[in-house]
Amino acid sequence: MAVIGSLATLSLISVVAAQTVQHAPPARPAQGVSQIISPSFAGFGIEPSNLFSFTGGAQPNELTNNLLQNLIDYTGVPPHIRLGGNTQDYFKWDASMDGWYWLNNPNPVGQGAFPTDHMIIGPRYFETLDRFPAGTPITFGLNLAYTEPDYIDQIVTMATQAMERLSNPVIVSFEIGNEPDLYLQNGFRTGSWGGNVYTEQWLDRAQAVYDQVLKPRGIGANFFEPAATASTIGTSFEIVQLANFNIDADANGTQTPLVAQWNQHDYYYYIGVSTYPLTVSQFTDLRTTNNQFKAWETQIAQADQTPFAYALREMGIVGPIGLHEITDVYAAALWNLNFFLYTAAMNITMVGMHMTDNSNASAWQPIEMYGNAPFVRPNYYSFAAFDQIIGPTCQARVGGSVDFDATGDYAGRLAMYDVYQNDDLASVVLINSRPVNGSQGNFQNMTFQLSFDRSLGGQTVHLAYLTNPGGADASSGTTWNGISYEENGDGTPKVVDETEYTLDIQSDGSLNVPVRDSSAVVVNLGGPVGQRAYNADACSSLSRSRPEALNPGIKTGQGTAASNSGSNSTNAKNANNAGVRSASSLLGASIIALSIGVVLQLA
Ligand SMILES: *[C@@H]1O[C@H](CO)[C@@H](O)[C@H](O)[C@H]1NC(C)=O
Ligand SMILES: *[C@@H]1O[C@H](CO)[C@@H](O)[C@H](O)[C@H]1NC(C)=O
Ligand SMILES: *[C@@H]1O[C@H](CO)[C@@H](O)[C@H](O)[C@H]1NC(C)=O
Ligand SMILES: *[C@@H]1O[C@H](CO)[C@@H](O)[C@H](O)[C@H]1NC(C)=O
Ligand SMILES: *[C@@H]1O[C@H](CO)[C@@H](O)[C@H](O)[C@H]1NC(C)=O
Ligand SMILES: *[C@@H]1O[C@H](CO)[C@@H](O)[C@H](O)[C@H]1NC(C)=O
Repeated sequence: MAVIGSLATLSLISVVAAQTVQHAPPARPAQGVSQIISPSFAGFGIEPSNLFSFTGGAQPNELTNNLLQNLIDYTGVPPHIRLGGNTQDYFKWDASMDGWYWLNNPNPVGQGAFPTDHMIIGPRYFETLDRFPAGTPITFGLNLAYTEPDYIDQIVTMATQAMERLSNPVIVSFEIGNEPDLYLQNGFRTGSWGGNVYTEQWLDRAQAVYDQVLKPRGIGANFFEPAATASTIGTSFEIVQLANFNIDADANGTQTPLVAQWNQHDYYYYIGVSTYPLTVSQFTDLRTTNNQFKAWETQIAQADQTPFAYALREMGIVGPIGLHEITDVYAAALWNLNFFLYTAAMNITMVGMHMTDNSNASAWQPIEMYGNAPFVRPNYYSFAAFDQIIGPTCQARVGGSVDFDATGDYAGRLAMYDVYQNDDLASVVLINSRPVNGSQGNFQNMTFQLSFDRSLGGQTVHLAYLTNPGGADASSGTTWNGISYEENGDGTPKVVDETEYTLDIQSDGSLNVPVRDSSAVVVNLGGPVGQRAYNADACSSLSRSRPEALNPGIKTGQGTAASNSGSNSTNAKNANNAGVRSASSLLGASIIALSIGVVLQLA
């Protein structure tokens, strides 16, 4: 009794706060676990008018380059990039425009609140685009808004430039028109405009680009992405409607549709559209993500009735350009990590987090803006975490969700995901998104009581943390797996915590893992996270069976994580840190205190 009493006194806060949640990760994928996640899944959308900010003008943007290279080092391939947005519908090609910028067209002739040809780009645009790492899969946005008599020539010309002028990134699809369901609002169209007219105009342009650009290059017709509705209600651009209008018709002279896959856009919250004030507390209730996404779940179900996959090419917590103290704080990284796992579990093929140079939601600020030098935002760490979790194996699958049963302070704040590699349980991701600011200083732990299959009893697991000592509202100082992408100043990784965190699964398969408020932990089986090797067979089989997941032509296996040895990784935290103190005993002690706390609380 005395022992328990003194422990209880020593860890009074734990005793009061001790909370637990149970989770039993199946050793093999249960029904409903996702398909294999594309290694390019955690992608970016870049607003076309802002490309120079991200990849550079006369000088390349090294921050962008380094931050993308980190991700390649984790998954073996570059993240998918969608180059699209409002401004794709303003672009016109002019071979003589030689600046490292887009030029305001002095003589625009197009219609619209902003004329559909008011931005002129030239060869430098593709020169800067060509700085994306080799093999970067690009979805390139073409102009559908422009309707002058030479519209076919214009779109064919732009598509030709895209196919001709790039030697590093690979154009894997064309998106024709950005968010066409909003064309009446921005003056791009008048009169009767809906999914049916859009379908005709889309097919007309896709056919022309196929005939004049793709076919001569021996590329198949299914290379185009129709835009599903961007508004949640009352449009005729839902996937089922576009399919009824026969947007999936075969290209003339072929037995192949022009459609490659569906191109959906969404934001969790949109300034001027969402009708409530957004707080950190609101979006870290992860149930609200599921609620917001309900409408798109119906679109996914519609896509499932077609032969085409469903990509979320434009996404963000807050559109159009983020929100200070919401999207640029550490809490947003937890939201983002959950969102990647949630959408991967739904078999969405890719998520493109939208970036502009002035957006407080962009994973990094690429140029000086708002008086700040370029810097890495906390949500970049969620890309690194997700990519190390799935690794370069081309075999990662995920199941799980937010815990809808949690109550009180933790209602909507807990999420558990099980990640499988080659159909064996490999990692369990535990998220505790309860928002606590550093200044409040009263972080509690939620103890996840895991019940593994008995066969895993006695195994040592490695833990990797997504955390920030500054708490939910911190705008810098995040770490993932002991790595900072801010410390070096150029986006290269720096290991700032070399501790190897391990725990041992009990012989009955049980394991208690405390997870601090406002943090996430990856419980990794079989070694530290981020150490898996590139799997050439699995990647080649994925690229054959699901080209949208790993397009042929993408160079794979380039990263350090993909190297044969796996031990020369400078970026992934290295396992063989001789002499590094194992923290397992320390963690074990605090778990015991917590367990006793629970017992006392129950008693
Ligand atoms: C939470 O758990 C950690 C170990 O992960 C421990 O160091 C810390 O003291 C715990 N905090 C509380 C408030 O119990
Ligand atoms: C995802 O795809 C897998 C494999 O095809 C399937 O078994 C699973 O049910 C799908 N999950 C969802 C949520 O559709
Ligand atoms: C295919 O050709 C037919 C007949 O010329 C035409 O009516 C139709 O619009 C064409 N389809 C596309 C997708 O261009
Ligand atoms: C973005 O954050 C900066 C501070 O870094 C602030 O000055 C600016 O107003 C913010 N813009 C938006 C749209 O939140
Ligand atoms: C946490 O910090 C944010 C931003 O400074 C603030 O809006 C919020 O009220 C704080 N939360 C608490 C519980 O103090
Ligand atoms: C690992 O690094 C060492 C030292 O830089 C080098 O000699 C060795 O060849 C590397 N091994 C592999 C497999 O890259």
